[in-house]
Amino acid sequence: DRTIGVAVLGMGNVGAEVVRILDESAGDLQSRVGAPVELRGVAVRDLAKPRKVAQELLTDDPAALVARDDVDIVVELMGGIDPARGLIRNALENGKSVVTANKALLAEYTGELATAAATRKVDLYFEAAVAGAIPVVRPLMQSLAGDTVERVAGIVNGTTNFILSAMDETGADYDDTLAEAGRLGYAEADPTADVEGYDAAAKAAILASIAFHTRVTAADVHREGISSVTSADLVAAKKFDCTVKLLSICERVHGTDGRQSISARVYPALIPLSHPLATVNGAFNAVVVEAENAGRLMFYGQGAGGSPTASAVLGDMVMAARNKVHGGRGPLESTYASLPIAPIDDV
Ligand code: NAP
Ligand code: HSE
Repeated sequence: DRTIGVAVLGMGNVGAEVVRILDESAGDLQSRVGAPVELRGVAVRDLAKPRKVAQELLTDDPAALVARDDVDIVVELMGGIDPARGLIRNALENGKSVVTANKALLAEYTGELATAAATRKVDLYFEAAVAGAIPVVRPLMQSLAGDTVERVAGIVNGTTNFILSAMDETGADYDDTLAEAGRLGYAEADPTADVEGYDAAAKAAILASIAFHTRVTAADVHREGISSVTSADLVAAKKFDCTVKLLSICERVHGTDGRQSISARVYPALIPLSHPLATVNGAFNAVVVEAENAGRLMFYGQGAGGSPTASAVLGDMVMAARNKVHGGRGPLESTYASLPIAPIDDV
């Protein structure tokens, strides 16, 4: 008959929606978890900003919130590497499960964090870190764990897809559309991460790591963004019945000597209008997985924004809470292969 205490770190685009749903769906969440789920506190930078949460739950001391004995699950939605990395490590090392949407952090430090989680036998979940609401992390880690994934490719950044779609459909201005993506809560705190492909590269690193059971970091991913794509490029693409999309492609490369390596790359690509990815517009994302036995699978949905991302966060939180109440653990990150990265010129 225990209550599950939750600490939320960050109350921006995603955190504010998580806090709203925790409040509005408390009854449903309790029945799905099998115990009450209570928000113990919310860490923010600026305590003076107006927020839709009881003032006494707010703190600007995330470390103290994470350290509280009545916190069982830490939901990290601050973004950035520091202090998020240390806070998550502290939480895991003290037996708390962690849910995070922080792809920039995971693309560098999943190994360290997964080891901390495994040591204390707690959960580290990050469905929201790739493609917003779309379940793609869990299918790769669980449903396809018995198959051999050959390729994971698609559109995994909502902001750039929103910009390219608007430029294509209405000839909209690049800077205006980027500003609109910020207002709608799609863009990163520093939108350079979106337009220069860093965000998509971080997601490609996460996808490649879990799909191929190896360790790929953002630095291993060949990266080009969309800042040099112009309206004239989109007009020219249309003349060839094509459009331009920022693609993330992760592949198992089979060398002629029988050795395998991994290629992960992000770049704006010309794709035929007849291709399924050409119809993915706005802040939607789509990921196509090709596996030896399953064949081709396609995942599609809202890839950015507060509520879609909060949906994935809450799904992870319910899983972690159920494990706290009933025992058991979620999927472990399974790194057993050590596959080299193929040079971009060889792909
Ligand atoms: P955001 O709107 O910039 O919100 C960040 C929140 O964290 C703010 O409430 C901020 O406080 C707080 N914060 C930042 N540094 C802090 C610190 N040192 N101490 C205490 N609080 C701190 O970001 P977001 O869009 O919600 O994104 C959050 C995370 O989710 C990021 O990792 C992002 O990459 C990821 N994500 C976002 C989306 C999306 O569509 N937006 C989708 C998937 C994943 P203040 O409010 O006081 O500034
Ligand atoms: N800035 C990210 C995007 C948020 O536009 O896709 C979702 O991860």
